[in-house]
Amino acid sequence: MATKQYDWAAGATLEEHSRRKHKILREYFFDYLTVRCQSPHQSRFRLAIIDGFAGGGRYRCGTPGSPLIFLEELQRAITFVNTRRAAQGFGTVEIECLLVLNDEDPAVVEILKKNVAPLQAALTETVPTLHLHVEYLTQPFEHAYRLVQRLLSAGRYRNVLFNLDQCGHRDVDRRTLVDIMHSYPSVEVFYTFAIQALIAFLRKSDPERLAAQLAHLDLNYTDLESLEGIIHRKTWLGTAERLVFEAFHTCAPFVSPFSINSRDGWRYWLIHFANSYRARQVYNNILHANSSTQAHFGRSGLNMLAFDPTHEDGTLYLFDAPGRHTAQAQLFDDIPRLVAEAGDVLGVADFYGHIYNNTPAHTDDVHTAIINNPDIEVITPAGGERRKPNTITVTDLLKLKAQMSFPMFFGTNAKDGGTK
Ligand SMILES: C[S@@+](CC[C@H](N)C(=O)[O-])C[C@H]1O[C@@H](n2cnc3c(N)ncnc32)[C@H](O)[C@@H]1O
Repeated sequence: MATKQYDWAAGATLEEHSRRKHKILREYFFDYLTVRCQSPHQSRFRLAIIDGFAGGGRYRCGTPGSPLIFLEELQRAITFVNTRRAAQGFGTVEIECLLVLNDEDPAVVEILKKNVAPLQAALTETVPTLHLHVEYLTQPFEHAYRLVQRLLSAGRYRNVLFNLDQCGHRDVDRRTLVDIMHSYPSVEVFYTFAIQALIAFLRKSDPERLAAQLAHLDLNYTDLESLEGIIHRKTWLGTAERLVFEAFHTCAPFVSPFSINSRDGWRYWLIHFANSYRARQVYNNILHANSSTQAHFGRSGLNMLAFDPTHEDGTLYLFDAPGRHTAQAQLFDDIPRLVAEAGDVLGVADFYGHIYNNTPAHTDDVHTAIINNPDIEVITPAGGERRKPNTITVTDLLKLKAQMSFPMFFGTNAKDGGTK
């Protein structure tokens, strides 16, 4: 299958879906570092990055692959962070980073070493605030993971980022994902797969359930082999997102089920696993900064998978301006309903914890829908009321107003797409 595509010795071809994935990875990693290095009291940030399917480092066209992307963004972020800190009158932050690069093919790792060496040397010379240690492994990922566990435990790393950019679906065991997400206090995973491979797996593990989930698409087993013909249908995207969410939502508290949006159709998925809503908030915002790079089909308010997949009545959400318009309208109704489900008050931190597994929305749209809402007031810790969206903080409370503009519960307003 992917043998030719990833022939690093002859020069690997960079596919469109990989280019899109790289852009998200690059921008997310930069934001991740800038968010994690913003405390005025901080002078050091330690993290480990595990690139489990690292590849050769550069494509035939010269474009960097994931290992070089991590190095380039480390350089860009640390320069940005320290320039910003100097302007704020804060001290310099140093970053200590363990970068583990694994590829099962030793020949590929030799190519990778040659591509990494010049950049690593330049970083050592020009960025004294970066303390970088690179480890190379040459194992199938499941074997490499045992070595990685030892490295992480010996170095006592708490901040860990995995990039699991496999070719198909089978190279990372689901139990390994769960283990990763439970093993480190602050851990995030970027996990790639081809949906065809997931379907092949589900066909073996749970064929009846899969058949029921796909029945409305009128698919027979031959269609399932190729998916051609349906790969561009919006109902396909909606159905596939549900399959993905069902397959992985128990792996982590926050799981994004969005497909990479490509001219080829919706066949590759990039999932972000996180254990904090803050990570998912940053991820959603990055997707909006890269509108049309990923796609979601369904609702765009708080209950994104709540629509009837047997009808083409959902909306295609491409994280762009028209999509955000629809999202704002849905959030406007959904947010007071969620607060009412809790009683009449909900802390903003709890609110974020509830919503970020369940919405593709941009933080700014969520905050605007709160402030403009006639049924909600935002109460500060001092008891005052917030009036600007960008001033809402996690210590605030969302409170339903005594006089609601429309009735919320007790059988009076069971609107479609409730927040459960
Ligand atoms: C999609 S490419 C990686 C691309 C790279 N992450 C990038 O962004 O440029 C997948 C790589 O995984 C390697 N590979 C395949 N099966 C593997 C396995 N079970 N464990 C580790 N590496 C594997 C292949 O040799 C190939 O180089």
